[in-house]
Amino acid sequence: MAISSACFFFFLCSLFLSHGVLELEASHHVDQNLQVSSTTPSKYQPYRTSYHFQPPKNWINDPNGPMVYRGIYHLMYQYNPKGAVWGHIVWAHSTSTDLVNWTPHDPAIYPSQPSDINGCWSGSTTIMPWGTPVILYTGINPQNQQVQNLAMPKNLSDPYLIEWVKLPNNPLMAPSSLNQINASSFRDPTTAWLGPDGTWRVLIGSKTDRRGLAILYRSKDFITWIKSQQPLHSAKDTGMWECPDFFPVLINSKLGVDTSTLGPDVKHVLKVSLDDTKYEYYTIGTYNPDKDIYVPDHGSVESDLGLRYDYGKFYASKTFFDSLKNRRILWGWLNESSIPADDIKKGWAGVQAIPRTIWLDKSGKQLVQWPIAEIEKLRGQQVHLPQQVLKGGLSLEVSGVTAAQADVVISFKVSDLGKAEVLDPSWTNPQALCSKKSASVKGSLGPFGLLVLASKGLQEYTAVFYRIFKGQNKYVVLMCSDQSRSSLNNNNDKTSYGAFLDVDPVHEELSLRSLIDHSIVESFGGGGKAVIAARVYPTLAIDGKANLHVFNNGTENVKITSMSAWSMKKAQIS
Ligand SMILES: *[C@@H]1O[C@H](CO)[C@@H](O)[C@H](O)[C@H]1NC(C)=O
Ligand SMILES: *[C@@H]1O[C@H](CO)[C@@H](O)[C@H](O)[C@H]1NC(C)=O
Ligand SMILES: *[C@@H]1O[C@H](CO)[C@@H](O)[C@H](O)[C@H]1NC(C)=O
Ligand SMILES: *[C@@H]1O[C@H](CO)[C@@H](O)[C@H](O)[C@H]1NC(C)=O
Repeated sequence: MAISSACFFFFLCSLFLSHGVLELEASHHVDQNLQVSSTTPSKYQPYRTSYHFQPPKNWINDPNGPMVYRGIYHLMYQYNPKGAVWGHIVWAHSTSTDLVNWTPHDPAIYPSQPSDINGCWSGSTTIMPWGTPVILYTGINPQNQQVQNLAMPKNLSDPYLIEWVKLPNNPLMAPSSLNQINASSFRDPTTAWLGPDGTWRVLIGSKTDRRGLAILYRSKDFITWIKSQQPLHSAKDTGMWECPDFFPVLINSKLGVDTSTLGPDVKHVLKVSLDDTKYEYYTIGTYNPDKDIYVPDHGSVESDLGLRYDYGKFYASKTFFDSLKNRRILWGWLNESSIPADDIKKGWAGVQAIPRTIWLDKSGKQLVQWPIAEIEKLRGQQVHLPQQVLKGGLSLEVSGVTAAQADVVISFKVSDLGKAEVLDPSWTNPQALCSKKSASVKGSLGPFGLLVLASKGLQEYTAVFYRIFKGQNKYVVLMCSDQSRSSLNNNNDKTSYGAFLDVDPVHEELSLRSLIDHSIVESFGGGGKAVIAARVYPTLAIDGKANLHVFNNGTENVKITSMSAWSMKKAQIS
């Protein structure tokens, strides 16, 4: 440890002191060409968000290298400075002191050396034991191979870390005939972790044939990386693993821990983004640092039919350890559900989900997520409904809230569970079940929940709701986000999303929180045990013309035990 940090320090010092090295970075200036956008966003912008992160215009995708450094949060992300479709990717950069309001800076990383001249793709930050952040990211070289590069802050006294310098000896990891890595399937380094043996480890997403791989590299000094014979983990028939994320979670605690934490009170999580299906999945399991292997817990499903952070659209996600508040925070990209022509017209595409605190559920069998507490600062005017029974077939309009920009929290209690419909054993796919039983299909216990972004005559609405079924030996709760009536514009993808929620409706209330932000409906079921993010584009239910309802389209009564809705203020983002 002492040796490796000294080495690294020496390396850093030589980089900062030796003008010779810095001159290799002479081309490291902002390319004016990249600052000019070819698109002129339309003036009419009903779908721009008010408190979800998005730049003023253009395409964004994966969150990159999130971290906190000297009390300032950094979000970098894949960005096309030239338009509203993917291309010309650089690392755009914003900072914040509260994860809510953001200040934009010049791009942190952009093509400037052979090892990234054809693109600067995703990567992660690692905080050295002495506090210095270092980025590992994927570069596309002149042969269009995917290679891994290192960048570090130019001036550690600058808390905003505006300028980044790249190692002249990049790339540090590259495909070759010896290591049998597929040069088109080798990307997205994780945050590295330091083992008790003083060796760093990092994962790179890959595949061989249809087997997804988390390739493991080791290094004593963070510069010379050696590929391990075996991957940390792999799974057959999953295809390319993009954006792997590997981190410890505490048993029986909501607190987060540093990525290098080991011990009897932690489990490990491996998340991968499946390039083939564009969905993510994660497993909870055990990491053996001696053998450097990860073994998912017995019964883990290794495909996107298994556990997901989000059962709607949410991709290329990444966590970081927030050492200021001892929590782990998850960022994820929500892409558009509109057609590229509409994205070009509006001049932008892609937003980031609300940062979510993430921890291991008491059961140890799944993770739980909740919007970071800071977002509640934006809550303005509050509307509250008294406890009441909502009869089958009835709905209730909630007025006094800016329904296109709101935070809604509601809890339900069902007394007569005996009336639950029987769950057909073939209904194993919650998303398919939500499409089959949309909000307009009457049941007995459900559908009940929220109609958000609803137009006056209900020509448009997005329905977020529950249904309760009688399963083999327990009740099964289905959570749905039904976009089928979300917009009169039929060019949009209006797929319904669904998840089974691990709560016991006999003893627990069914809670639901939806963050509504013009074209985003991000819903947290069961206190964050299942999350569904959706993108919608109402044509009537816009701004002041959007409404909020609580509805019960089942035959049985449900009790609303509590309900609050807040108008949300606009965050300072762009
Ligand atoms: C480094 O950043 C600090 C704080 O912003 C600034 O005062 C100083 O001038 C910077 N040093 C250089 C060499 O740019
Ligand atoms: C390498 O990955 C690319 C991209 O998925 C794929 O088209 C190609 O067939 C792979 N090559 C080999 C040898 O597996
Ligand atoms: C983005 O959205 C479209 C349509 O809604 C979907 O088909 C696509 O695969 C999505 N995901 C990614 C990661 O591109
Ligand atoms: C409730 O059910 C009725 C009858 O099936 C249907 O017409 C109505 O659209 C449903 N409400 C919602 C919100 O889907």
